[in-house]
Amino acid sequence: MRNPDPTASDEAVREYILSQVNKDQLRFLTCGSVDDGKSTLIGRLLYDTKLIFEDQLAALERDSTRHGTVGDDIDLALLVDGLEAEREQGITIDVAYRFFATDRRKFIVADTPGHEQYTRNMATGASTADLAVLLVDARNGLMTQTRRHVFIASLLGIHHVVLAINKIDLVGYSQERFNQIEAEFRAFAQGFDFETLVAIPMSARYGDNVTAAGENMPWYEGPTLLEHLETVEVGRDDDARPFRFPVQWVNRPNLDFRGFSGTIAGGRVNVGDEVVVAASGRTSTVKSILSQVGEAQSAGSGEAVTLVLNDEIDASRGDVIAAASARPDVADQFAAHLIWMSEDALLPGRSYLLKIGTRTVTASVTEIKHKINVNTFERAAAKTLELNEIAFANLALTVPVAFDPYEANSTTGSFILIDRLTNATVGAGMVWFALRRATNIHWQALEVDQAARAQSLGQTPAALWFTGLSGSGKSTVASLLEKKLHVRGRHTYTLDGDNVRHGLNRDLGFTDADRVENIRRVGEVARLFVDAGLLTLISFISPFRSERAMARELFPEGGFIEVFVDTPIEECRRRDPKGLYRKADAGELRNFTGVDSPYEAPENPEIHIRTVGRDPEEIVDEIIAYLEAQNLI
Ligand code: ADX
Repeated sequence: MRNPDPTASDEAVREYILSQVNKDQLRFLTCGSVDDGKSTLIGRLLYDTKLIFEDQLAALERDSTRHGTVGDDIDLALLVDGLEAEREQGITIDVAYRFFATDRRKFIVADTPGHEQYTRNMATGASTADLAVLLVDARNGLMTQTRRHVFIASLLGIHHVVLAINKIDLVGYSQERFNQIEAEFRAFAQGFDFETLVAIPMSARYGDNVTAAGENMPWYEGPTLLEHLETVEVGRDDDARPFRFPVQWVNRPNLDFRGFSGTIAGGRVNVGDEVVVAASGRTSTVKSILSQVGEAQSAGSGEAVTLVLNDEIDASRGDVIAAASARPDVADQFAAHLIWMSEDALLPGRSYLLKIGTRTVTASVTEIKHKINVNTFERAAAKTLELNEIAFANLALTVPVAFDPYEANSTTGSFILIDRLTNATVGAGMVWFALRRATNIHWQALEVDQAARAQSLGQTPAALWFTGLSGSGKSTVASLLEKKLHVRGRHTYTLDGDNVRHGLNRDLGFTDADRVENIRRVGEVARLFVDAGLLTLISFISPFRSERAMARELFPEGGFIEVFVDTPIEECRRRDPKGLYRKADAGELRNFTGVDSPYEAPENPEIHIRTVGRDPEEIVDEIIAYLEAQNLI
């Protein structure tokens, strides 16, 4: 029953629709490059399962004559390589999802490009797939990229693999060649713990062993690709896992009703089950389950439901309601694999937003344990992570969250990292395990607190953060300001970049990563000084918005005053108090701010000082006037 006969009765149509809805579904991903025949293979699957519409077919015949890469035949790759730009370049760029169905199953194919610069695309496609079809060209055998695909598929929790040994027609349908590639692949894949691994010789172009066996390989007795895809048991018994329910929103239409809405991320829930709010540890039992079709006794993985509990317990968006007998981890530090997806490198210490389930928190990478060469799997030390690189790293979150190891649950065990300024997704991660070390350190409450110290000093403490280019006049202004505050009897302290780099930050240089760490530490130190009750002046280039924002967050509203010492680089270069611009321009000093390292000017500083043509006294008086207006002095 492929497509309903247009003359069929209503009954037959209804039956057809029901059979489609109840059909089992397989999500798989294809990886390989155009050269391996990937697009032709997918085109062949779509073509043979008759899911190409007449008009697409007509366009295809036209295009095949125009592009003419396969002589007189229809070029099936053209069907898949939809984008004109892709066709002209002969590469597949993005992840495209395609759908087709047979009588037995529905299929969703994630079509991902094979080149290394598309690792992030492959990871995206693999994250929801049950099976991976890895394509190789029979003439070339296993390539570096095949190994890379195996590694990424395994990292993303794919347990089923098909090695499609394509273009077998070009090696004379040789059984020997097939056996040789298969043996090599099995030996290599042994270390990866796949549940099923099937190698199939095929010619996507002529259709051998894609959907039908063909006559050219009588020696091959295994299934065709489609047969295998239709029958392979991916056995992902989502319902057998512990119940997980990330709360999307609290549904409270009136005082008599409160339900928690969301999508079940693993396991089943039944009326009467004991559940727990993971972070708070509060327990209750399930009173009722509302599904899209009404009240239900039970609901399983993937279903969107509203749960009503028997007790009034607190849970809000981002909380995870879970089986009380099998709770997820709750921690604020964990180790994870990270795939970096941004042109801007990952910088340890920089704060990002981390979204796990329905929860979004602030987080940073505290340490890159090692990065992994995706081609050789060798580990290497790393300070930063570039686009498409993969690493094993420790992360720290500002608050504890509930999660599972990725192995146990790929939904509650995976997360994305988001740039706080651009809102772009910059990384994806898979949790390996919770780090326990943080759980045994508690905050020590001290009797004498900031308020007590501030009172005995008779002042309101605050952080005055000076940012600007080297030579812009930050230190001159900060120093004169401190002097004037001192004369007024204020208690102050100045943290200056050059000075702090002689001691606490002696180990840091001027790479982006080191500057992030420099500012992170200074922000923390400034917080301690403000906590001690002092008016604290901080004078660092602090070139990145992201870290200045991070420092700002360490202080209460109004307690952080950003002072932008705005001097054009031409003027700084002219002043050149330490002769560093001369050196940088001569190429003797690398990573110099404003020359070959960026400076991101503040967008909304509390105080914006243009120094050119002005006298330091006048500038400092302006700052003092601001502090007076804010009742800080
Ligand atoms: S920051 O970028 O990490 O905030 P910081 O303020 O600590 O820099 O240190 C800047 C000072 O270090 C400059 O005033 C200058 O004297 C010195 N310096 C040495 N090399 C560099 C460099 N490559 N870039 C900027 N400043 C440098």
